[in-house]
Amino acid sequence: MRQTSTKCRQDFAFSVTKIIMVRSEHRLWRNGAISVHDLSVCRQQFPSLTRTTASHEPLIYLDGPGGSQVPYGVIGAIAEYYMHRNANTHGQFITSEESDAVIAQARSDVKAFLAAPETGSISFGQNMTTLNFLLSQAIGATLKPGDEIIVTDLDHDSNVAPWLALAARGAVIRRVPITASATLDIDAFKRLFSDKTRLVAVGWASNAVGTVNPLPTIRAWAKEAGSLFLVDAVHWAPHGPINAAQLDPDFLLCSAYKFFGPHIGILYSKKGQLEALPTLRVRPQAPTAPERIETGTLNHAALAGVSAAIQFIASLSDQTQLGWSDRIHQAMENIYAYEHNLAKRLYTGLLTTPGVTVYGPAVGGEDRAPTVSFTMKGRSSEDVARALGHRGILAWDGDFYAMTLVDELGIRDQAGLVRLGLAPYNTMEEIERTLTVIREVAAHGA
Ligand SMILES: Cc1ncc(COP(=O)(O)O)c(C=O)c1O
Repeated sequence: MRQTSTKCRQDFAFSVTKIIMVRSEHRLWRNGAISVHDLSVCRQQFPSLTRTTASHEPLIYLDGPGGSQVPYGVIGAIAEYYMHRNANTHGQFITSEESDAVIAQARSDVKAFLAAPETGSISFGQNMTTLNFLLSQAIGATLKPGDEIIVTDLDHDSNVAPWLALAARGAVIRRVPITASATLDIDAFKRLFSDKTRLVAVGWASNAVGTVNPLPTIRAWAKEAGSLFLVDAVHWAPHGPINAAQLDPDFLLCSAYKFFGPHIGILYSKKGQLEALPTLRVRPQAPTAPERIETGTLNHAALAGVSAAIQFIASLSDQTQLGWSDRIHQAMENIYAYEHNLAKRLYTGLLTTPGVTVYGPAVGGEDRAPTVSFTMKGRSSEDVARALGHRGILAWDGDFYAMTLVDELGIRDQAGLVRLGLAPYNTMEEIERTLTVIREVAAHGA
């Protein structure tokens, strides 16, 4: 027993030393300039990318929309927190003071990531869904029967169910329909506004088919109607820059595990909005933003990981002279360009694969997330995803909680979509191998 525990400690110390070693290499690498054409050099930062199938083929991770892979820097930051700084907050001793600093740093890094005007706008929670339910319950308490809320048929249910729940309090829920090409029916959207509209809840990008919504237009309609404007940016956040100061939503939510971090939900709220809401909270909790909606103890170790995830993103910038927020944004532009190059090849390759139907807007035209979904004639999507999985290609199947979209596309009987999501650690070689395997599956079965 004693021997096992000593070995366990040694193994652990070895892994942590390795993580910390790679973190310092990462810092060195981060300070050099890299080219947008070379983003896949970041692969060396991800330990999971060395995994192979039983027949020794490297795994191809196209499952990012369900949660991205995690770089050494993030794993190391979480381990370091538990090794050296683990404590609760607001104490009169060093580890507690350092824990306070970890939280403050995470708020400051997320502020830079979202280009938010101030750190007081950044609240944390368990995940996006939980934060959105807390928010909807608080907003619901301010509504009168007959007040209207607009949600969309394109959205993930985490930005629909919290608002549908308010129907029980007398709110009227209006739903924006979608078109056959899986975009919002924008004319129908405009017609849903009335002088009773109190909140518009809309996604930035569809997690199922990659559609990007015209947010500035929708915001203008919401403000004209005197309504709150809330954006689910979970699917967009890993793929392109977010400028909260410019878009100026009342609320915007995202989730760090989609952008190389741990499982933490993030809520941006415009100055003054959170204080106006009767949030659920314990009596000693700060009544002011951003803590006003943060119930209980935060996951401090994960917050250290959130900062490290944002540092990793900034390392993908090739303009090291920029300030912190601009550097993160320039890195996100690089990610957008890099992923779109891959997505374009994936999209056109799928379009020319017999028996395959691709959904969502064309890649290469308007703004779009690099998430390409398809069905295969005569095969259920579960079946196709399993066949890909057997060949080491990790792809999600189903509706991904975008239930209404899948129903409206008429593909429920086929078990929804097969979804291929891109990340900066994917390569063109992986895309070519994926297309070859999909063609083989379409031609011969599994
Ligand atoms: C677009 C979108 N919104 C919301 C969520 C829910 O996020 P969370 O898992 O942080 O609750 C997801 C998760 O996949 C998503 O893709």
